Amino acid sequence: MFKIAVLASGGGTNLQSIIDSIDNENLNCKIEMVIGSKEGIYALERAKLKGIKSYVVNKKDYGDKTSDRILELTKGKVDLIVLAGYLSILQGNILREFKDRIINIHPSLIPSFCGPKMYGLKVHEAVISSGVKYTGCTVHFVNEEVDGGAIILQEVVPVYFEDTKEELQKRVLEKEHILLPKAIDLITRNKIEIINGKTRIE
Ligand code: GRF
Repeated sequence: MFKIAVLASGGGTNLQSIIDSIDNENLNCKIEMVIGSKEGIYALERAKLKGIKSYVVNKKDYGDKTSDRILELTKGKVDLIVLAGYLSILQGNILREFKDRIINIHPSLIPSFCGPKMYGLKVHEAVISSGVKYTGCTVHFVNEEVDGGAIILQEVVPVYFEDTKEELQKRVLEKEHILLPKAIDLITRNKIEIINGKTRIE
């Protein structure tokens, strides 16, 4: 069975979309563990409700050893690490040990509105003030560059003049919940090849 670790920092609606896809048999894998970046986030509660093992790896306790601690928990135990609304940046050995086996979902069409400090509502705020008519979400592989790894899937979402950042976030999230399980499914079925920093999907 293909095993995944899901890392989250907040409400965990993307985690829930993975749980639901597995339950509905649209995704054939097991969530081996959920790792939260702090205590008390609802993502951890979702894991608990489902009987999924969970850990907290807090930057306050682990500092620059945060990624190493996550590596310690996941090495040899999972086939893929899924960043689902995870706000810390992974660095060091974990990127080598899990090369092309870590994915992230970002709430914009990369390479726009991404990179360091572009997360959560800040992304949607920047999208709205730029005046673009379309935004979306992107699932990509994780490498040393923030939001810079090969793009796996993208989905487009319209931006309306009257949108608040919260309304736009909600519209984008609906697409995220479809896109992330779909990307995991492609990986579990070995349908993705990376060629010169681009993915070819079978
Ligand atoms: C999502 O927009 C995700 O793309 C971002 O964090 C937001 C919240 O996700 N990185 P979740 O509800 O915690 O899954």
